[in-house]
Amino acid sequence: MSESFYVTTPIYYVNDVPHIGHAYTTIAADVAARYHRLCGHQTHFLTGTDEHGQKVMRAAEERGLDPRAWCDRIVPDWVALWKRLGISNDDFIRTTDERHETRAQAFWQELFERGDVYLGRYEGPYCVACEDFYKAKDLVDGACPIHGRPVETLSEENYFFRLSKYSDWLLGDYYARTPAPVAPAARLNEVASAVRLGLEDISFSRTSFSWGIPLPWDSKHVMYVWLEALLNYVTAIDYPDGEAFRTLWPGVNLIGKDILRQHAITWPAMCHAAGIEPPALVFAHGWLLVGGEKMSKCNLTGIHPDELVAVFGVDAVRYYFMRDIAFGQDGSFSWESLLARYNSELANGLGNLASRVLAMIASSFDGRVPDPGGHAGEAERGLEETAARAVDAYSDAMGRFAVHEALEAVDSVVRRANGYLVETSPWKLKDPPERGRLGAVLWSAAETLRIVALHLAPFMPEACARLWESLGVPEPLGAQRLPDAARWGGLAPGAATRRGAPLFPRVEP
Ligand code: MSP
Repeated sequence: MSESFYVTTPIYYVNDVPHIGHAYTTIAADVAARYHRLCGHQTHFLTGTDEHGQKVMRAAEERGLDPRAWCDRIVPDWVALWKRLGISNDDFIRTTDERHETRAQAFWQELFERGDVYLGRYEGPYCVACEDFYKAKDLVDGACPIHGRPVETLSEENYFFRLSKYSDWLLGDYYARTPAPVAPAARLNEVASAVRLGLEDISFSRTSFSWGIPLPWDSKHVMYVWLEALLNYVTAIDYPDGEAFRTLWPGVNLIGKDILRQHAITWPAMCHAAGIEPPALVFAHGWLLVGGEKMSKCNLTGIHPDELVAVFGVDAVRYYFMRDIAFGQDGSFSWESLLARYNSELANGLGNLASRVLAMIASSFDGRVPDPGGHAGEAERGLEETAARAVDAYSDAMGRFAVHEALEAVDSVVRRANGYLVETSPWKLKDPPERGRLGAVLWSAAETLRIVALHLAPFMPEACARLWESLGVPEPLGAQRLPDAARWGGLAPGAATRRGAPLFPRVEP
């Protein structure tokens, strides 16, 4: 059987509509899923919504709705946005789904019976925007360090999860595994240091409100939203004994660094406590910053993805976020950098390459892919080598979630191909004796476009499908498999090419 790849996004709070910070994670997960499908791996991609807890409950109250009615109203907006952004998730989980509620209860019942849950009392600061407990020493001027908003003080009888019991296992076993289960490396160091400083047991139930999943053994309590939400990664694939769970778990949890602790400390410990495998990889990317701060609705810096798509189109927006920010690090969003990248790499780079090559094939070869015959020389071999090197760099980078490096590799091929056209100047090869040479140049440039379309497809699925069709390749893009399809020489002479509308029309400032 083929390798399996199970990738998830965080499930998003539905207190409001999405902004591009949420879209950033979801696009990255989509790129990973599409890439693994392209490699022929058995791929499963999950996203969804986190609907319980006080944050969502208050959002509903502000609108005069009960929480369930509010969620039912807003969730379709999220689903529709993911569709517009070309997100190819195989499943969508809502934590109000019955499948999640019953399996989350089964999970915690198991931990209760194993003695990992006990009744205690919690007192301390709580940030509803994070849905997280804080220590007084971690607050900044009495406010949440992430949201900068005042915290509340909780004082309740709660059940606790014996997280502290798992410190040794996390440090001695989980974090020591190869390949590392938490990435990038700086994030692994960060959680390992936090565990070394000492873990405390964690409050995992609430009694002061009821918008949550009741504990099966004590229905006065609902589950603390985080320790319920994390379970979505397994409840969606039929934990504990479904076929999907057996074949797909452990998976890759892609997250933003704001929720690292929950995913790289609490979640693996919960899995281990329940006797299931912890996640194979927790990969935490950085923040999208606006004006130097984490973009967020709370800080009024949230930008809706549709605002960008309206100007640049879906593919370009996906490309920009994956290209402009080193995946794993923080990066600043700006309209100026989006415009600059779009015009230089997509409109003038790839778009211009495609339209020039297809126009010359149309005018000189009646739209049929020319036969390179025996006319390829050193320049063509140079282009072929550049493409081969980029293909290797791309697959190495994709294996490490270094999507920005993968795109740099592809862009280097586009730049070389445009340079190659300037050097070989096919528009000057007009005389009949030069026809063989002209065919070789245009075939090589078109073959480069084929390889570029293949590798950019996970990032820009629509534009690449159009480019692929315009090259006249008979088998659809979706039927291609790496690495075989990436071999130089795949473009069949004689195929009918097609010139369409420009892939990336220039956008004026
Ligand atoms: N519901 C929890 C996650 C539970 S997962 C079991 C949650 N939801 S959230 O709606 O606040 O989304 C958080 C995630 O959205 C971040 O981890 C990150 O993936 C993404 N982002 C939100 N704002 C972001 C930025 N400004 N920059 C990058 N990603 C951001 O936390």
